[in-house]
Amino acid sequence: MPDSNSVATKQSMLAQYSVEHCEPVNPLLEEIVEFTLANTEYPQMLTGRQEGRLLKLLAHLCDAKRALEIGMFTGYSALSVAEALPVDGILITLDINQSYGEIARGFFDRSEHGDKIEIKIGPALDSIKLLAQAEEHLRYFDFVFIDADKPNYVNYYEAVLPLVRQNGLIVVDNVHYSGLVLDETDDTNARGIKNFNEHVKDDQRVDRVMLDIRDGIYLLRKR
Ligand SMILES: C[S@@+](CC[C@H](N)C(=O)[O-])C[C@H]1O[C@@H](n2cnc3c(N)ncnc32)[C@H](O)[C@@H]1O
Repeated sequence: MPDSNSVATKQSMLAQYSVEHCEPVNPLLEEIVEFTLANTEYPQMLTGRQEGRLLKLLAHLCDAKRALEIGMFTGYSALSVAEALPVDGILITLDINQSYGEIARGFFDRSEHGDKIEIKIGPALDSIKLLAQAEEHLRYFDFVFIDADKPNYVNYYEAVLPLVRQNGLIVVDNVHYSGLVLDETDDTNARGIKNFNEHVKDDQRVDRVMLDIRDGIYLLRKR
């Protein structure tokens, strides 16, 4: 029987192999990674190449024209999703941090997809409440990516589900939370994620598939 070290090594080699076999990203996305590693405190928040390409592919598959992101950071996932939108498509992306907004806008302005991205700075729940009050044709989304503060995941989900069109997709990041979902834990973020996972596990309003790539990704299709 192989020892656990060699199994772990092979798993990590396969993870790297999988990343290398995803479609390459454009140089601006590489630049966002370099900038984020050099200039921000928590660069591990980046989604990166594999998940970014997955988001783009999923947004394409659901013919997304209107997309919403909760948790933008320096703009990597936003720009990845925007690549999949038509020229008259829109991604509204939410973040609480003004300086991330300025950094991301700088990158978006240099991208051919940047015009499709609208940034809203402030607590995401407040921004979603305002979006829900927009005119009817402006308050639906085909695709939503949830990747902000973990204790609010259930609140984000419940706030956006009424805004997602039938067959629309909600993608939720970090649903394994570094494996802490398997443990009894006092970590507030891990508890937020565990709570969210239990909340949607039997939710008949959506189809539910959890993927064990990267930090765990939940795919939820609105019925
Ligand atoms: C994991 S990062 C997002 C990473 C991003 N999706 C990417 O791929 O690069 C989480 C982001 O959520 C933002 N955030 C945290 N709490 C928030 C809140 N209450 N409302 C809006 N954004 C929030 C943080 O400022 C941070 O930029």
